[in-house]
Amino acid sequence: MSIKIEDKFFVPFISPDVIDKAVRGIAEQINRDYKDKEPIFVSTLNGAFMFTSDLMKVIEVECNLTFIKVCSYCGDKSSGVVNEILGLSIDIEGRDVIILEDIVDSGMTINVLHKMMAKFNPKSFAVATFIYKPNCYKGDVKIDYKGIVMENNNFIVGYGLDYNQKGRNLPEIYILEEC
Ligand code: IMP
Ligand code: MG
Repeated sequence: MSIKIEDKFFVPFISPDVIDKAVRGIAEQINRDYKDKEPIFVSTLNGAFMFTSDLMKVIEVECNLTFIKVCSYCGDKSSGVVNEILGLSIDIEGRDVIILEDIVDSGMTINVLHKMMAKFNPKSFAVATFIYKPNCYKGDVKIDYKGIVMENNNFIVGYGLDYNQKGRNLPEIYILEEC
């Protein structure tokens, strides 16, 4: 069934079941790769809040969690500039950092985040994104963990992702209806 958010119609795209499996898949890999480490997760607000919450419940290694807030989107278009709104509150020097993103699209945000983190000399840097759009990605940062690889480039909402700050609460992901 389609839903309407402001002027646009969206249709169901990724169900809660598929979301759950993708989150568990990422957690399994991280639990294995960081078995003897103590990573610090840096979750990017606002979009990654739901993914972060679900992922952290199935992470079994000792870890820290902190949040950072950057912003690039206006409505359904990227503004082309990434602004830092909330900075890091935990020292990441010498730490194994894992960035948590809701979606990696053009890669502009992840490039900026990588540069921001590098200034603090972490021991390692990895990226876990719930959604990855390979056809849009133009960045050079390695995306280590991908929940769902989306070949379709259309705009999506739900599971933390918004359209004009709406739809973040939806428990599944919807995609813009083709006209
Ligand atoms: P990038 O900088 O182009 O990689 O975009 C990253 C950010 O833009 C994400 O963290 C999202 O907040 C937002 N974004 C990109 N694509 C979408 C989408 O399809 N729906 C909602 N937000 C998106
Ligand atoms: Mg985001």
